[in-house]
Parts: sequence; structure tokens; C-alpha cells
Amino acid sequence: MNIDILLGLQWGDEGKGKIVDAISPEYDIIARFQGGPNAGHSLEFNNVKHVLHLIPSGIFHPEKLNIIGNGVVIDPAVFRKEIENLGPPVDELARRLVISARANLILPGHRILDAAYECSKGVSKIGSTLKGIGPAYTDKAARNGLRAGEILRKDFRDLYDQHLKRHLAVLKNYDHTFDLGEFEAGWFEGIELMKRFRIVNTEYLINSLLSKGRKLLAEGAQGTMLDVDFGSYPFVTSSNTISAGACTGLGVPPGRIGGVFGIFKAYCTRVGSGPFPTELKDPTGDLLREKGHEFGATTGRPRRCGWLDLPALKYAIMINGVTRLLMTKSDVLSGFDTIRICVSYLADGKECTEIPFDNAPVEPVYKEMPGWKEDISGIRNYDDLPDNLKKYINFIEDQAGLPVTMVSVGPDREETIFRK
Ligand code: GDP
Ligand code: IMO
Ligand code: MG
Repeated sequence: MNIDILLGLQWGDEGKGKIVDAISPEYDIIARFQGGPNAGHSLEFNNVKHVLHLIPSGIFHPEKLNIIGNGVVIDPAVFRKEIENLGPPVDELARRLVISARANLILPGHRILDAAYECSKGVSKIGSTLKGIGPAYTDKAARNGLRAGEILRKDFRDLYDQHLKRHLAVLKNYDHTFDLGEFEAGWFEGIELMKRFRIVNTEYLINSLLSKGRKLLAEGAQGTMLDVDFGSYPFVTSSNTISAGACTGLGVPPGRIGGVFGIFKAYCTRVGSGPFPTELKDPTGDLLREKGHEFGATTGRPRRCGWLDLPALKYAIMINGVTRLLMTKSDVLSGFDTIRICVSYLADGKECTEIPFDNAPVEPVYKEMPGWKEDISGIRNYDDLPDNLKKYINFIEDQAGLPVTMVSVGPDREETIFRK
């Protein structure tokens, strides 16, 4: 059992990037298994902040192997920008990073289709990041995809043209204007850059390393409530963000999975449309956004903010088989007189704790807990945290039936409290 999975239990942006970077020293391999450039994973060390979209968050640890798994959809244009802005030279990064030959590519047509579909939805827009995720996974499932391994084929340009023709035919049905050239230039440059990296059957590489006793950390993207099956469909992303996604997205058997680390914010945020029972459309919500710098790492959009939602958290724990909880952004809650925590919902006047499959409206039922005033960002020992924060954590642990083994008190790698 030498795989641990770290994944989001809410609507994304729980702080996965920061924590993956912080715990990478315990692993040999860090692998992304789903999603694509819709993800924005931030991490900070030495006073520099980095935002990663496609590249696993272990990339800044020179001795670690980072893998973009088969379940990821790759936009070569985004890949190029990311590699060029990372810092280390390309040859060095090519030593640290391997790409699955089976990973599907996001084509310029997917980006354009994403925008065309979203515009046509009118008021029921998903609030997609418009990175081409939905159309790329649609083509994958429809057996129309173009995959990373194919960029090495001599007839790659012909293959690309066939896909483009198909996408343009679909786009004829939409009243949508676009500049294909704008998307294509960076895309083909990205393809050339990808050729400098190892593009292999990563499932063989991963399983052979696991057999030699190497440890792998699977890095989730998005969050459980955005899962295509278990999230608030249709206001979801197009991949399985849950722990099961790590098996299909890397080609590893379930028996290899050890820990499932569920990461959650001490409150909740959501970007894009869809239900959010504890959303605060008031000055308290604005204060959470301001204190937590809650603006999207990929699109810059303001994140919707609200109190912690325990029914949603328990649902996510159940679906993922979470073995331990990690709580981030605890520092953002400092300064509130009272903190609220949603313990159940009211649906049609009746108390319930299930997440409705049809996004039926529910009213949150809150428990109130006293807040704390101290700035906790400098604290490194759990025992030194304010009593009221420890009571908040104890309540979550009691409700969830799991320990909170790590508390994050700031965006930096060092601002992390590991509980013994
Ligand atoms: P991810 O998508 O799950 O990796 O999360 P994002 O990077 O999109 O969003 C999390 C944001 O919170 C980033 O700006 C992080 O730098 C920041 N962050 C992470 N953990 C903490 C924390 O404990 N406290 C504070 N104040 N910020 C944090
Ligand atoms: P990380 O990995 C937060 C949201 C979008 C939209 C919906 C569908 O940084 O946590 P898509 O682009 O997939 O078609 O968008 O999902 N979304 C995210 N929200 N964090 C993310 O990733 C997200 N990736 C997608 O805002 O509502
Ligand atoms: Mg993010």
C-alpha cells in the first residue's frame, strides 16, 4: 500500500498545492490523475508564490519524479507557459517530469467549443474556466481524442487537421466568433516543447516503481463537490475528482492505496455557478473573501464564500474513504466573534443531512461556536493554538469521525502544523 491520495473535499481551492508541496519530501513520486489547466494550485516558499495548472505540485523538489497521468487533459499551450515560468531550465524540468502517452490533449477547438457551449447556456451557465476541459473529456469518451503519445507521429499534423475539421463543423451550429490563429500559435509551440519531455506508458513506470517500494502521492484537482458523478451536476467539472479517479487516472490497483488525505478549508468557497447552501452574500462573506484572498488562481474570479458545511464534508469523506483530515486557512477565521458551522439542512421544512441529487434548495441549520482573536500564522505547535480553535477542530473531528492531522495557518510551506 504505497500510494496516498490527497484530494479536495469541497468545491476546489482547498489548498491542495500548498500541502502537496509541503509533504512531497515523504514521497518519491508526485502524480496528477485528473483535471487539467482548470486547476490552479498555489504554493509558496522563500517568499515566492507559484501557481501550477498542469504540473504536479512536487516539481520544486529536485529529487522527486513528477508525473502527469493518463487521466489528465493537457493543453500544450498552457504547458509551455507553465514550464517557461517555473524557473529551472527546461532540461532540468524534463528530468523531473514525465507525461503519460495516454493523456488526452486539449485542442484549440476544445477551447473554442467550451466558450460556444457556455455562451449558449444563457442563465444556466456552469461558470466553466473555459480551458476546454468539458469538450476534451467529451472527445475522450466518444473515442475522438488525440493523445500525448501521438505528437511523435509523422502524420501528427494531418491528425490535428482532421480533429479541427470536426470541431469547426460543430461550431457552425453556434453563433460564436473566434480567432483560431490566436489559439493555434501557442499550441503548436507547446507541442514542440512537450517533445523534449519523456512521454511514456506511465502505468508501467508507476507500477514498476511501486513494486520496488517507492512511495507515490496522487494529487487531486478540483474537489469532491465538483466530481462529474457525485458533485452538483451539471455544475461540475468533467472528471472524477474522487479517490477512485486516482486508479483510473494513473493505472494503479485499489489495493495499492493506503491513505486518503481529505483537505478542506476551515470555511467554504466556490467559484462558478451551482448550489452552495452556506454561501454568505453579506459583509461576513465579503470579509472572508478579503481576509482569505479568495480570488481564483486560474481565472482571477472572486470566489463565493460561506461557513463550513458538515453534511457536504461528511458526504465527501464517505465517497472518498478519507482516512485523515487536513484543515487549511484556519488563520482566516481569526477575528470573528462567532463562527457558524452547518450541521444539517432543512428541505421543505424537514431536517435532512443528504446532498440532494437534483440540487433542490436546502436551508443550512447552524451551530454557533465562539471565535478567537489571536493571529495564529506564527504558531507551529498544535497545543499553542487558541482554545476556541481547538474546540472548533474537536467538533469537526467528532462529527466526521476522523482526526484532523494537519492544520495550515498560512500560504507558506512553513506555515503548517503537523499534529503528532
Ligand atoms: P488548490 O487549488 O487546492 O491548490 O488551492 P488554491 O491555490 O487555488 O487556493 C488556495 C489559496 O489559499 C492559495 O492562494 C494559497 O496560497 C492559499 N492558502 C493555502 N493554505 C493557506 C492557509 O492555511 N492560510 C492562508 N491564509 N492561505 C492559504
Ligand atoms: P483546483 O484544482 C475551483 C469549477 C469552475 C466551474 C466548474 C467547471 O484549483 O481546486 P471547468 O473549467 O472544469 O469546465 O469548470 O468547476 N472549477 C474549479 N473551481 N477550483 C478548481 O480547481 C476548479 N476547476 C474547475 O469554476 O464552476
Ligand atoms: Mg485552485
